[in-house]
Amino acid sequence: MAVRVDVEFGAKDSFGAVKRGDLIIVVDVLRCSSSIVSAFANGAKAVIPTETLKEAYGLREQHPSFLLVGERKGRKLRGFDLGNSPLEFAQEVVEGRTVIMTTTSGTRALVRCRRAEHVLVGAFLNAEAVAKKAVEIAKRKRVNVSFVLAGEKGLFSLEDFLCAGAIAFEFPYGRFDFSDEALVAVLGFERVKNALSEYVGKSRHAKHLIELGFERDIEFSCMLNHFGLVPVYRDGKVTLMR
Ligand code: MLT
Repeated sequence: MAVRVDVEFGAKDSFGAVKRGDLIIVVDVLRCSSSIVSAFANGAKAVIPTETLKEAYGLREQHPSFLLVGERKGRKLRGFDLGNSPLEFAQEVVEGRTVIMTTTSGTRALVRCRRAEHVLVGAFLNAEAVAKKAVEIAKRKRVNVSFVLAGEKGLFSLEDFLCAGAIAFEFPYGRFDFSDEALVAVLGFERVKNALSEYVGKSRHAKHLIELGFERDIEFSCMLNHFGLVPVYRDGKVTLMR
């Protein structure tokens, strides 16, 4: 039977994908997924996502050697080592470290998928690698695939939708059964794939980030297939899939 591909438009809608037993690909291009990919590309050991600031501060108290990173309203918080810019996750800072991360929507989407058996972190940066891994697992375990788009506070997000399209673009079309949403995501990606940062730069959240001075984050996050790594969320933490 063909593998079904669906798209859920926000952390709050993730329960549908979890309930169906799907392999889930969580996408938050600006910037949570891209920062996680960047952290692993620079040697981080693990990322522990939390929904709340309280949990993040509490974990840091228990584990003073862990890095504390993330944002609210796009900005780094009091007592945090890093904000949520993927460019901050430099090798000399993150190599060998466990990172506690809390962000407005991205880590919330991840945590809400904690009961799913397979949760991958997808970004433009690792689209092809995530797609390959998702196809392999979906076939082996006979499960369907759902994208959970973190969006921004539950709103539709252009960049996450296009990224779902970039990943689904790599799926074997004939053997996968795309929902209307998944198919439009692929068509949208195909339309703009040669000018990704230009179109992503027009999105609501990108405009906010540009106002805060994070224009370079958008360019970086749009580097399609720059890394061949796949972060996987299991047992409360994200690690690199080997
Ligand atoms: C989020 O999780 O809401 C985002 O990653 C926000 C951001 O840092 O731009």
